[in-house]
Amino acid sequence: MKIAVSGKGGAGKSTVAANLLFCLKERCLPAFAIDADPDTNLGLVLGLDPEKVAALPPLSELQEVIMEKNAGGGAFVDLNPPVDDILEEYVLRDGTIRFLKMGRIKQGGSSCYCKESAFLNAVLNSVLLDRPEAVVMDMSAGIEHLTRGTARGVELMLVVVEPTRAGVSTALAVDRLASDLALPRVLFVGNKIRSQADADYLRASLPPERIIAMLPFSEKVLERARQADGRAFGREDMIPGMEEVFEKICGGG
Ligand SMILES: Nc1ncnc2c1ncn2[C@@H]1O[C@H](COP(=O)(O)OP(=O)(O)O)[C@@H](O)[C@H]1O
Ligand SMILES: [Mg+2]
Repeated sequence: MKIAVSGKGGAGKSTVAANLLFCLKERCLPAFAIDADPDTNLGLVLGLDPEKVAALPPLSELQEVIMEKNAGGGAFVDLNPPVDDILEEYVLRDGTIRFLKMGRIKQGGSSCYCKESAFLNAVLNSVLLDRPEAVVMDMSAGIEHLTRGTARGVELMLVVVEPTRAGVSTALAVDRLASDLALPRVLFVGNKIRSQADADYLRASLPPERIIAMLPFSEKVLERARQADGRAFGREDMIPGMEEVFEKICGGG
């Protein structure tokens, strides 16, 4: 299953992504955990070693590799260089999970822009369209790393949304971007729900048939965020209800 997770900053994207990845890991299913949010924190939410996470270079900053993959520089841009070596080398492993960071795409106009984005696009092409492993991609609300091409590989986008006006407005904006990219399936996940009124608010504000879950606000989840980084993610860290979400979208495997 190839899943992208998006939503407003703070909504719980990285937490939901880490929950899905934990379910995959527990079932010994190989998966890529892709941190594609410029406001990167998936590695820490997953409980990876903070020093290793900090030391892992984002793919967008691998200047030498990027030049090499683009056939030795010059004006030529190789649109689909092989990247399997990258998926071995520039990752952190945790059981069946391979974690990698995309990094920021620089603005158009900078001299390396074309080669960098061609390289990142090649990596996404590979994991989303060629490789058999599952993918869970943690993305900002701008979903800027996806193109119409790579979006074809995303089977499901989950939009995490808190029951606030700003949360809903961002979720609807993500939904429009996803529709521009022709993503086949976009579902909403209500998160940090504390009352019936919260749930009712989201049902009234979003297409109700596309809300897959209303996840409760959980003190335990928040407590984990207060603890020192680097503690392994365990069953007790799951948001109540996430296991059922995983079963619904991955059909038990
Ligand atoms: N269901 C929840 N209950 C309580 N706290 C939550 C829940 N989901 C996420 N959080 C907390 O909200 C904060 C933001 O979550 P995070 O996943 O980092 O958001 P994002 O990646 O969307 O910016 C974190 O401190 C996280 O622990
Ligand atoms: Mg995050």
